[in-house]
Amino acid sequence: MFRRTTFAIAALALSAAMLAGPALAKPVVIKFSHVVAENTPKGQMANKFRDLVKERLGDKVEVEVYPNSQLFGDNKVLEAMMLGDVQMAAPSLSKFSRYTKKLQLYDLPFLFTNMDAVEKFQKGPEGQHLLESISSKGLIGLGYLHNGMKQLSSSKPLRVPADAKGLKFRIMSSDVLAAQFKALHATPLKKPFSEVFTLLQTKAIDGQENTWSNIYSKKFFEVQPYITESNHGLLDYMVVTSTEFWNGLPEDVRAEVKKSLDDAIVFGNKVAAEKALGDKQKIIDSKRSEVIELTPEQRNQWVEVMKPVWKEFEGQIGKDLIDAAYNSNK
Ligand code: SIN
Repeated sequence: MFRRTTFAIAALALSAAMLAGPALAKPVVIKFSHVVAENTPKGQMANKFRDLVKERLGDKVEVEVYPNSQLFGDNKVLEAMMLGDVQMAAPSLSKFSRYTKKLQLYDLPFLFTNMDAVEKFQKGPEGQHLLESISSKGLIGLGYLHNGMKQLSSSKPLRVPADAKGLKFRIMSSDVLAAQFKALHATPLKKPFSEVFTLLQTKAIDGQENTWSNIYSKKFFEVQPYITESNHGLLDYMVVTSTEFWNGLPEDVRAEVKKSLDDAIVFGNKVAAEKALGDKQKIIDSKRSEVIELTPEQRNQWVEVMKPVWKEFEGQIGKDLIDAAYNSNK
């Protein structure tokens, strides 16, 4: 009796499963990890990418976005990518020096006069070639994303380079940025982005450099009474994935994911341009921080002090590459 009932239950379960049809294939999951807030160019780009992939690939691919260093901070994300724990990220170009010295180019102070020059260089042959500079490490550069020009925030007004002497500045993990602050006779400290607000709030450091959108979205302006509009350097990103993951995707899926990413980047770049103006204005309106504009003479002093850094890194980056980037200003 017992055996007959068990058999009947099993048969019922089987026919129910057959009615339900074949088991559904699981979607490919793309974990996209980043360190900034959602209301930033990178945050908005990542969310747009997630939405476009859902719209175009339905249940085949699912993008999960993890903002604000929730999943991985700056220092761990690329290692995690190679272990397969995360599939996409867009670290700042300043955070690749363990993988290639070539990308240090983008950290040279006063290299690009504006974002049009950056765009021109990145779309040109040298810029495109740099996307492949990490391929020997098992990583693929899928595209660039803009944030914008960096400004200097500080506990005291910075009008000329001598004002920065003796101050401690947080920097991203870049030797070029370290050399830039040493040229000012200041002390650079390489720290993860997630620690910057607390370091500033507790006065463990005196200042930092960042874009208007990062200064606004992470509330640095609330703990930094002065921001000098120096536009002295660039903060842009490279969207990366691992070669193993990317090549493992079916060709048609890979093409659609790439197209969605390209479209999301176009969107993110528009957000970047808007936020460079809008977030600066919001900071001014808040009256929490005074925005200092430099006179042409003051600006020239910063250029004169910082530009010798180019020579220091010419051997690692390559003079041809520096020239090509500089020529994009014409
Ligand atoms: C980012 O924009 O991804 C972070 C930049 C920083 O570390 O300052």
